[in-house]
Amino acid sequence: MSSPSSSSSKTTTLASGEVVPVLGQGTWMMGEDARRAADEVAALRLGLDLGVGLIDTAEMYGSGGAEKVVGGAIAGRRDEVFLVSKVLPSNASRNGVIRACEASLKRLHTDRIDLYLLHWRGSVPLAETIAAFEELRQSGKIRHWGVSNFDTDDMEEMARLPQGQNAQANQVLYNLKRRGIEFDLVPLCGARGMPIMAYSPVEQGALASNKGLAAVAARHNATAAQIALAWVMTQPGVIAIPKATRLEHVRQNAAARDIALTAQDLAELDRLFPPPARKRPLEMI
Ligand SMILES: NC(=O)c1ccc[n+]([C@@H]2O[C@H](COP(=O)([O-])OP(=O)(O)OC[C@H]3O[C@@H](n4cnc5c(N)ncnc54)[C@H](OP(=O)(O)O)[C@@H]3O)[C@@H](O)[C@H]2O)c1
Repeated sequence: MSSPSSSSSKTTTLASGEVVPVLGQGTWMMGEDARRAADEVAALRLGLDLGVGLIDTAEMYGSGGAEKVVGGAIAGRRDEVFLVSKVLPSNASRNGVIRACEASLKRLHTDRIDLYLLHWRGSVPLAETIAAFEELRQSGKIRHWGVSNFDTDDMEEMARLPQGQNAQANQVLYNLKRRGIEFDLVPLCGARGMPIMAYSPVEQGALASNKGLAAVAARHNATAAQIALAWVMTQPGVIAIPKATRLEHVRQNAAARDIALTAQDLAELDRLFPPPARKRPLEMI
């Protein structure tokens, strides 16, 4: 096991070579109820205290409410955070992206987003969205851009477009129960040096009660959710972004960085959750 001081330094690199943490905090379902906002801010701030220095949000979450919660959490500590947000496909036109980004920046109370993603593909031509992303990058409003919910065919199409190779990451559904991307998308992104951001890494909480994980968890004096997270973080070039509002969950997730799965653990997890033997279409939540 690595020491607590080294756990927060577990990192991977974006396609540009910039170093980013392998553990972040998700925010879907935050910002939906003003009565919960203070607790949500406290959860994100605890994560930052524990060195979980990446936060993932989106204009969609809570119709902007989650970005406001994030704005509260990062107030006074912007430099501790690698901040990810997303534009909806319905705002993905050349002018729409610029307007959406400016609105996100206001809600986040910051002057820059570190990584700005297209949330999923819609009807706007990808080239138009990329042109807008590049304009935002030139003006410093975003530092990097990337995509989400892109399968291999979308990735190939993007790579052929002008500046399409500037995409830095692909955020997709990935956890022990959703391993389909290992067949083709993981190797494709890996070949481009592009990390996968694994969303729903504990299958929206379902893996926390998975009985199959109990034996591995017991060997590490850990919970099933921690094993599920540790497994995601074991995969090269993968960033896990669990969402946790309960402070105990935030602590457990941060501590999962210190779990070193053995060859025996990994073989057992492969038996329980077999890797794909053929192409499966990308799944979405
Ligand atoms: N790009 C996309 O299309 C997309 C889609 C889905 C999600 N996302 C992003 O990915 C993030 C994570 O995905 P998600 O929110 O769908 O699912 P998730 O992170 O797999 O699961 C969140 C649920 O698991 C619970 N949980 C967290 N840590 C736990 C622990 N240590 N033990 C037991 N339960 C735990 C949380 O409870 P509490 O909150 O009560 O602590 C919450 O109910 C999202 O928040 C969002 O930022 C992106």
